[in-house]
Amino acid sequence: MKKLIIANWKSNKTSIEAEEWIKQLTIDNLQLTNKEIVVCPPFTLLPILKEKANELGIKLGAQNISPFGEGAFTGEVNGEQIKELADFVIVGHSERRKNFGEKDEVINRKIEQAIANSIVPILCISSLDQLINHKSYIINQKAIVAYEPLEAIGTGNPDTPENAEQVAKKIREINNEAMYILYGGSVSSGNVNDFTKMPNINGVLVGNASLDPKEFLELIKNA
Ligand code: PGA
Repeated sequence: MKKLIIANWKSNKTSIEAEEWIKQLTIDNLQLTNKEIVVCPPFTLLPILKEKANELGIKLGAQNISPFGEGAFTGEVNGEQIKELADFVIVGHSERRKNFGEKDEVINRKIEQAIANSIVPILCISSLDQLINHKSYIINQKAIVAYEPLEAIGTGNPDTPENAEQVAKKIREINNEAMYILYGGSVSSGNVNDFTKMPNINGVLVGNASLDPKEFLELIKNA
């Protein structure tokens, strides 16, 4: 199983900054033999990154998806549109649950839209209870689950690798299948390997540390 490293840029970077970032991401094939990189920028930057990402062998993901298909849904970007540019989409992130009032039900609609459009959902959960509410939507599907404890996101205080491993093990038991399980929350080049070396953790979801290309390259190298 390749290690999966997913960058979540959140609401950061202009087009010029995105071009500069990818120019500095001097990755070579050797570094990617057992690692897969997915970059999730804001929607506006997906077309800007696409060609260079292809050349580098890295994949793109979106940070949101409409819970509906095409139609009269002002402000939404639907799965069919996303599929033209990205293969993955983040759903259920705690920042969306908190700041945009997203509940499990709408998140499940988003998972359905992703799967219907052959986009792999990266389902973020901060507790096992949340996973149980989404379970029937991801079971037997190509999906990724990212465990991100609230107190670890953007704080510089990651969970302990031992605790993250215990939760990852339970996620695997609940899903009862070979699924990619990631840890997220204050992952950096310095601590990434403490997480990725755990038997049930297949990769990481990285916010802050993905914004600087040098730090992100180092993180990829150390993962
Ligand atoms: P962080 O964010 O790495 O900045 O803690 C992780 C996330 O929110 O996905």
